[in-house]
Amino acid sequence: MEWFENDVLWRELYPYVFPVERVAAAAGQVTRILALAGVTGGAVLDLCCGPGRHAVEFARRGFTVTGVDRSRFLLERARESADAAAATVEWVLDDMREFERPATFDLACNLFTSFGYFKREEDNLRVLRNVWESLRDGGTFVLDMVGKERMERQGMEARHTRFADGAVLIQQPHVREDWTRLDSQWTVVKAGQSRSYQFEHYLYSGQGLQDRLHSCGFAGVSLYGDLQGSPYGPEATRLVAVARKA
Ligand SMILES: C[S@@+](CC[C@H](N)C(=O)[O-])C[C@H]1O[C@@H](n2cnc3c(N)ncnc32)[C@H](O)[C@@H]1O
Repeated sequence: MEWFENDVLWRELYPYVFPVERVAAAAGQVTRILALAGVTGGAVLDLCCGPGRHAVEFARRGFTVTGVDRSRFLLERARESADAAAATVEWVLDDMREFERPATFDLACNLFTSFGYFKREEDNLRVLRNVWESLRDGGTFVLDMVGKERMERQGMEARHTRFADGAVLIQQPHVREDWTRLDSQWTVVKAGQSRSYQFEHYLYSGQGLQDRLHSCGFAGVSLYGDLQGSPYGPEATRLVAVARKA
């Protein structure tokens, strides 16, 4: 089983991957995504929506929203969140390699490093082609992930974060395969016990991601260093691509 197919990982890490502050930050991120994309209404695809923090916010703002994820556990959290907000979202349990709905969406998002998970690069490209197919002509794709340049600057030091439940999360990154992949070990230490989890995904440079989007049919690919639209320069904290289906 690949790490991302393991629902035990998403369940056990849920409080640390999706703490309340991160969920609360989604509303501001949706405002910035809409500004970057220049989209004001229509149908939105949140691909790899997880617990639905962005999907629910898009729906609250009147968009027709489809959230796709392969984790049953996270889709249950997403449903609860939509119910609590009295928001209507279509939740789809599917794999991003498979989900495709031709010419349906005005905006597609893939957020918080939910791309580059497959060891076969052809599968990652297939995801980009599925998104391209699923957009209407003139539609926009916003992809937000950690970039290679950021990891080079940040270095490979472990990072520690303390949570309200007393847990300490230690994140230890490693680059693999000639800087093409990032392997991140997360260890949660709580009540004297520790458990470790492994994440692994491709690490793209800005140029590398731009080239892949172009090769899958996208036009006018712009890069930013965060969702606020800062330049993809030395201060970039994220690798954000905004790509159009011409
Ligand atoms: C880091 S989380 C981001 C969730 C969400 N985009 C957010 O910002 O809160 C990555 C998500 O990708 C989903 N995922 C992983 N592999 C997937 C796949 N093959 N197909 C669809 N979803 C997948 C996970 O279940 C998880 O919800």
